[in-house]
Amino acid sequence: MNATMSLEKTKHYPVMLNQVLSIISPQHGGTFIDCTFGGGGYSQAILKFPETKVFAIDRDKLTQKHANILVKRFPKRFNFFQEKFSNLSKVVQQHVNPRAVIFDLGLSSIQLSDKERGFSFESKNFLNMEMGINEYSAYDVINTLDKEHLATIIKVLGEEKDGRLIANKIDKYRRKKPIKTSQDLASIINDAKKNYNKYKKNPATKTFQAIRIFVNKELTELILGLIEAAKLLSNGGVLIVVSFHSLEDRIVKNFFNLYSNLRKNPSRYLPIKVSKSSLFKQISKKPLVADVKEVNENIRSRSAKLRYAIRNNNSFFYPDEFKKKFVNYLELEGGRI
Ligand SMILES: C[S@@+](CC[C@H](N)C(=O)[O-])C[C@H]1O[C@@H](n2cnc3c(N)ncnc32)[C@H](O)[C@@H]1O
Repeated sequence: MNATMSLEKTKHYPVMLNQVLSIISPQHGGTFIDCTFGGGGYSQAILKFPETKVFAIDRDKLTQKHANILVKRFPKRFNFFQEKFSNLSKVVQQHVNPRAVIFDLGLSSIQLSDKERGFSFESKNFLNMEMGINEYSAYDVINTLDKEHLATIIKVLGEEKDGRLIANKIDKYRRKKPIKTSQDLASIINDAKKNYNKYKKNPATKTFQAIRIFVNKELTELILGLIEAAKLLSNGGVLIVVSFHSLEDRIVKNFFNLYSNLRKNPSRYLPIKVSKSSLFKQISKKPLVADVKEVNENIRSRSAKLRYAIRNNNSFFYPDEFKKKFVNYLELEGGRI
């Protein structure tokens, strides 16, 4: 399979596509939900198999132009909705009975490389960072959010130990004049993180991640999206999530553990306890990762982790520990279940 499945000229690699296809086996036909359409790499690869149907979702209105190409090519088998996947049930009806629901989280390379969106450090454009269907931009957050909240966001969502230091520096600057561009923000963070040359990554990486997650309520979206998928899937349906950083992966891992046969055992010497009230069967506790060839072709795949589980017949329920596990993330982003 050609790794560059782009529907237009931009080089775009659908991450871990071969693993996704081997889990969902579209050659047997059926309906699939692509919750993160992006450049359409997964959807297009599935639609190559004649007995398939795809319902695709993306919150970014700019993905519509990629979707239109597939709508034209597969008018009876492809549907696209510009929507957030936390609203999956608004656009996909229960009777659709999908064989798989797939999430490929985060930003697409198309979004990242579009300087006007303000996701990259070098962008001289408005500090935006909105994926689409947002309540506020990064500009609003950086210039108006309470300093304490800003510090917590940078610490928790960016896993940045210098969260307070950076929030203080941002506050000092914004008192003089508004921080307008991504480049301005990056240089303020660099200023806060003394001796930044010793860092391998740009010192603003973690803070940018934190602000982007907060602006797009990405963790709330993930938690609600997984719930929607679990409700929609029926016996034998597969839930697949490809994630790119530890916060996302932790949520996916906790979600599957709470709902699956592989709950944490009190001792590794005891046999795995199979919960009677599970929703999913996990084949492995360990995530799949991209192979060396893919990592060489697309460096972004290096941090990808793929987890999947198979739905059983039990009715949806919230396990007791559910709120305890996720409530902090939801509160931090201002969302609720
Ligand atoms: C990594 S890209 C997906 C790439 C895609 N698998 C492909 O092969 O082209 C992630 C996409 O998910 C979208 N997205 C992220 N969070 C979303 C959400 N909560 N609801 C809907 N779409 C979302 C982004 O706008 C982006 O286009």
